[in-house]
Amino acid sequence: MQVFIKKDYEEMSRKAAEIVAGEMRKKKDHFVLGLATGSTPLGLYKELIRMHRDEGLDFSKVTTFNLDEYCGLAPDHPQSYHYFMDENLFNHINIDKKNVHVPDGMAKDLEAHCQEYEKMIRDAGGIDLQVLGIGGDGHIAFNEPGSSLGSRTRVKTLTEETIEDNARFFKNIDEVPKYAITMGVGSVMEAKICLLLANGAKKAEVLAKAVEGPITAEITASMMQMHPRAIIVVDEEAGAKLKRKDYYRHVEKMVDLLKK
Ligand code: F6R
Repeated sequence: MQVFIKKDYEEMSRKAAEIVAGEMRKKKDHFVLGLATGSTPLGLYKELIRMHRDEGLDFSKVTTFNLDEYCGLAPDHPQSYHYFMDENLFNHINIDKKNVHVPDGMAKDLEAHCQEYEKMIRDAGGIDLQVLGIGGDGHIAFNEPGSSLGSRTRVKTLTEETIEDNARFFKNIDEVPKYAITMGVGSVMEAKICLLLANGAKKAEVLAKAVEGPITAEITASMMQMHPRAIIVVDEEAGAKLKRKDYYRHVEKMVDLLKK
């Protein structure tokens, strides 16, 4: 596991974009990118859009798979994750929308769709790099505490806390989706590279548990410790409770020196 601690959100986002763009450039013919929604990767997406505009970063051979989607929301619903991705990334880059995949929250047979989603990932050759955020309770995707560490794409019942939290985005609480489709921990672990981002003091405690604590289904992000190529990029606030902060900084310096 590589850990990068950056000064602030902007630097964290730039570092993450450098990693994503670097991998994309290495594998020009066909790159499969796993994506997350939420506030954490917004800076990364802005930087990728800038790189596309100013440096010609090419998305024409990129296929994407998003981690999750609410059940019952159509792709054009302003609160759907599909809409979020269109607004914050896809509408601003040269990606072929045929290559964009977000779980279909309106699928008639949700279980069958989950299986189909896994097959589409397999048929695309697997995910080359998966972008991840971490929830306040240590979740990755919608894999809340207690989710099986081997879980696959499936329908999850949202916690009452999440439903109440989301109510502010809807007219009333009855409109808030109660279920979501999410890739499982096991599905995420099959990505060739996992890139987990975290920013802000609110994430400091849970991030330290995920990176340096025991591997546990209570914090599904702790499975990053089992991944052969997990890259963790955080800002100073989110990294504040890491015990091995100095070592991570030392490694970064030594690796940079090696490249010179
Ligand atoms: C979103 C997702 C979630 C978020 C996590 C952090 O697709 O999979 O696991 O990454 O809840 O959310 P933010 O970034 O809003 O703090």
